[in-house]
This record gives sequence, C-alpha cells and structure tokens, in this order.
Amino acid sequence: MDDRLIQGRLTAALQSSTNSPRERRFPWDDDEFAHRFVKITDENAQVWRPPEPDVIRLLDIWNNRTSHTGALLPSILELACGTGRHSIALAWAGCNVVGVDIGASAIERALEKAQGHKGGNLGFVHADIATYDPGRQFDLIPLLSKQCVTFSAIDLAAIIRHYMGFLTNDGCLILEIPGQLPDPDVKYRKPGEHKMLFSDGPYWEMQLTEVDSARRLVLDRYAVLTEADDLVTGYTNCRTYYTADWIAQMLPYGSSITVHSRRSQLDWCVISNRPLSP
Ligand SMILES: C[S@@+](CC[C@H](N)C(=O)[O-])C[C@H]1O[C@@H](n2cnc3c(N)ncnc32)[C@H](O)[C@@H]1O
Repeated sequence: MDDRLIQGRLTAALQSSTNSPRERRFPWDDDEFAHRFVKITDENAQVWRPPEPDVIRLLDIWNNRTSHTGALLPSILELACGTGRHSIALAWAGCNVVGVDIGASAIERALEKAQGHKGGNLGFVHADIATYDPGRQFDLIPLLSKQCVTFSAIDLAAIIRHYMGFLTNDGCLILEIPGQLPDPDVKYRKPGEHKMLFSDGPYWEMQLTEVDSARRLVLDRYAVLTEADDLVTGYTNCRTYYTADWIAQMLPYGSSITVHSRRSQLDWCVISNRPLSP
C-alpha cells in the first residue's frame, strides 16, 4: 500500500476521533489484548528490566520498618503482577507471595514461569484489583510499574483505602508513581516497526500523544490500519501522572505516607495505617 495514502487515512481517523471519550482505558481484561501484551513483555526483556533492584528495595523498606522486632520476611500481595516477574523473584527470596492480575493470559504465563520455583509459598489470582478481596492481611502490598496511572483519582483513592484494610500492623502499601511528563509526540509505524499490541496480523499505526501539563494527564490516541481487512480502528489510553502530594490527599486521617526516592529510579509512595513517629 502507498505510504502517504496510509498516513493520510490514519491522520484523518485521528482527527475525527478527537471527541472520543477521554477516559477510555486499555482493555486489560480483554483476552486477546492481554495475550498480546504478555507476548510483548516476553519479547522485550530489556524493557521489562530484571526485578531484583525492586525486590531489594521492597525488602529494605520492610527491614527498616521492623528492624527493632527482628521480624521475618514479609508476606506480599502484588497488585497487577503481570506475568509475575516481581512475585516470582520475591518468592525465590523466601517471601510468601500472592500475585493478582486481571489478564487471564498474564496469570497463565506467571504460573508457567513459576513452575518448579523454590522458596516461599507463591500463588497467583486472576482478578480485578479494584474489587479483589484477599481475605487476609499482608505485610507489603505493592502496585508497581506505574500502574496507578491507569486508574482515575476516584478509583485509585478507593483502591488505596481498600488495600489499607488488608495491611498488618507494620504493613504498608507501596505505589510506584510516574516521574516526568512525556513530551507531546506523533509517531507513525509501519508493519514490523511496532509492538503487536492491537492485532495479531501486520498493521500500520499512528500514535498521537497529547499532554495536559496542568492536570498531568497524558492521552495516547492510536489509529490502527490492519492489513487483513483494510479497516482503521481507534484506541485511547488516558494516564494520570500522579504526584506524591496528590496521593497524600487520598489517604484517610491518621495514616501516613513517605516517599522513597532513589537516583535513576521512580519514586515509591509508602503508605501505612499509622501516623509517622515524631
Ligand atoms: C504494565 S503491566 C505491569 C505488570 C507487572 N507489574 C510488571 O512490572 O511486570 C500492567 C499489568 O496491570 C494489569 N492490570 C491492569 N488493570 C488491572 C486491574 N484493574 N486489576 C488487575 N490487574 C490489572 C494488566 O493486566 C497488566 O498485566
């Protein structure tokens, strides 16, 4: 197909879709989407970097909270665990871990990868973290990979309060928050130049990234032209770049938040049911 013609069609599709609802999210619960995402994470190991630095950071946080009691390794509930790279590494380190994710394929892949692991107990649950009831308490409940950006402020506040109800006395909820806003951008990709997120067959893709710096909103709009049926489909992914101050405003009275910053790593908000000691 002629490249300029394709770019023209995709641009026109993006322009006509500007009225689409801004809140539309990636369909993480759609089986095919989830399956393709798992494939991408498998094939892009360098982007999905090794989990060990995060594991060390999590265990450090736990040790600092409990050093006076000589506590054991923490029990961990990992929210939106994907294919389980953190959960599995934490279990190898000896922790008892439950990972939960909405993608059936992600959970299947996590179970596959976990086969034969040695260490603490490890389980995976296929569920929506917005409604999942773990039925017991945990020492650490991390939501990593900046995944909080995909929830609206109301939903994120509800998730925070919900999981604070499942923390042990010393326990904490840990949210990885995004850093700098990206720049607005337009990208055109031909078959073979993109990650196959939207279709199994070859497709052309135009990605428009809009940034509202005042509200720290990033909106990615995609127009996708599939080779097989010559159809253009639109997708929207809206993300909120929460700051620690915004997260602090979502917390119930009497709780506390500390921000763990490390050079060249994203900030983590560490949230506890207890006020900070003076
Ligand atoms: C960017 S991936 C990160 C996966 C994992 N944390 C990692 O770092 O490898 C995002 C994951 O969040 C999951 N997810 C998105 N919304 C979710 C929800 N409401 N409940 C549970 N999982 C969700 C997706 O299925 C996907 O596996």
